[in-house]
Amino acid sequence: MSPPPDPPASLLVEALAGPGFGIDTGFAAPALVHGLAAAVARRDGAGEFRAAAVGAGRNRAVRPQIRGDRICWLLNADDDAERAVLSRLDALRLELNRTLMLGVVDFECHYAIYAAGARYARHLDRSPRGAERVVSLVLYLNDDWGPADGGELVIAADDREVVVPPAAGTLAVFLSQRFEHEVRETRRERASLTGWFRRRPSLGVDL
Ligand code: OGA
Ligand code: MN
Repeated sequence: MSPPPDPPASLLVEALAGPGFGIDTGFAAPALVHGLAAAVARRDGAGEFRAAAVGAGRNRAVRPQIRGDRICWLLNADDDAERAVLSRLDALRLELNRTLMLGVVDFECHYAIYAAGARYARHLDRSPRGAERVVSLVLYLNDDWGPADGGELVIAADDREVVVPPAAGTLAVFLSQRFEHEVRETRRERASLTGWFRRRPSLGVDL
């Protein structure tokens, strides 16, 4: 008997294999989004968020004109919503390894809150945490996001800009080393979970 065929690759796998970025506007159902938004509010209330810094080493500094969000690294899942999202993303990681042989062994993520007026200037997700980042992922947690709210993610693709409203349940993924991107100034508080699939650190040799 022949082995069962592989399940069809998901939308996001196809997108990463093709253009190198993809948007799934229906990745997370409202219940999961609301559970995560509640976790953000709880952790923010408990003082777990810090102003995000830019740069590395001696140049590391909080520069809100460049990057104005505050973040909370998600080190341990605290509740069902956090366990659920981490398990969904781990399934995606394994699927990428199986179908595209990306060899991503690790995942790191933080929540981010952009207060009204905050933005993140155009950048590449490379430093300071290194070249191990292969895929960037952002899951948005904002109900009823409209065009007047701003705060879009803009991915600089080869010949155009891809504009992604940070609407509840949308997951954006892109190859970390390939696409510069920015967060336009938001006019409303904007919450997300941002993470990276990472490969093993190299031994100082860039292959
Ligand atoms: C980041 C980032 C994009 C977004 O945190 O590095 O680019 O839409 N976030 O929040
Ligand atoms: Mn980024």
